[in-house]
Amino acid sequence: DSSIGIGLLGLGTVGSGVYKLLRENELQISQRTGKRLEIKKILERDQKKAFSLGIPPEVLAENIEEILDDPEVQIVIELLGGIEPGRTYIRQALCQGKHVVTANKDVVAAHGRELFEAAAAGKADFYFEASVGGGIPVIHILKENLAANKIEEVIGIVNGTTNYILTRMSEENVEFSTVLQAAQEAGYAEADPTADIEGDDAARKIAILASIAFNTRVTPANVFAEGITRIAPEDVNYAQELGYVIKLLAIAREHNGEVEVRVHPAFLPQQHPLSAVMGVFNAIYICGNAVGETMFYGKGAGQMPTASAIVGDVMEIVRNLESGSSGRFPCSCYLDKPILPIGHIHTK
Ligand code: HSE
Repeated sequence: DSSIGIGLLGLGTVGSGVYKLLRENELQISQRTGKRLEIKKILERDQKKAFSLGIPPEVLAENIEEILDDPEVQIVIELLGGIEPGRTYIRQALCQGKHVVTANKDVVAAHGRELFEAAAAGKADFYFEASVGGGIPVIHILKENLAANKIEEVIGIVNGTTNYILTRMSEENVEFSTVLQAAQEAGYAEADPTADIEGDDAARKIAILASIAFNTRVTPANVFAEGITRIAPEDVNYAQELGYVIKLLAIAREHNGEVEVRVHPAFLPQQHPLSAVMGVFNAIYICGNAVGETMFYGKGAGQMPTASAIVGDVMEIVRNLESGSSGRFPCSCYLDKPILPIGHIHTK
């Protein structure tokens, strides 16, 4: 058979983007994979969303079983957001041998290990490139391209909302609260922006990156997180006068076998490459003992950048299916390294 069946859970901003991208770039995607990728079933309560995208009503599933029990659905894309029911659906799909792609940072950060184990049990692939940095390829890079390195340090600007707020504060000398609303209107903030501005969204993302970079398990509970709510225009001005910029940094380091993970606003020298990251853009700076310094930059959120990461993951799974290989390495073989208690910092 020359087609691959996909089940899509959630038809919100990102889900609609995935649908659009599969259509818009259909020819190229099928040329590259040798397969036609077909969305067989969609789980979405709001029928109007499906209607507005021209999706025939029979594609909408009544319930999750209709997707998980369909032998023609080989790949499930989970875009529900939040922990449940996404966590349960992902686990069930993997245990049944269906490959899963998700953008769900909450689930991967808090329950990654359980899901990697389910993937190993079901001999299924589990990909989550879109969970960190939206369209920026960083998970794949850490997992595969930099796998030969001892990773020394990962520093990310991984929350677009807070970077947007800090950028506007430095350009316009305005209060935090004035720009928060504009950030929400720009459409990058979480439904409840508390997770953005208190640093919890960045904490989830750096927990995922640290787990992969150091081949260990870091969950959001291990991450010290302080947000940007107490940053005043004066702080931003002082930083500028002294040759710094204030950025919300997500930092993960390994030092003598101990892992340290934290999120907080920091004074960054203006010469540092991360200082140039403005507005809703994200960037991840990674240092490896062989490669040296690297940095990856791009749109960390939004409909089509996130869809780009998801469809890329799907295409990699299709290639794995064709070649009989698997993308499970190396997430199923964690070491448990000591994690520095919250608030402790390694000095280098
Ligand atoms: N609220 C997130 C951000 C969206 O502002 O970066 C992407 O995860």
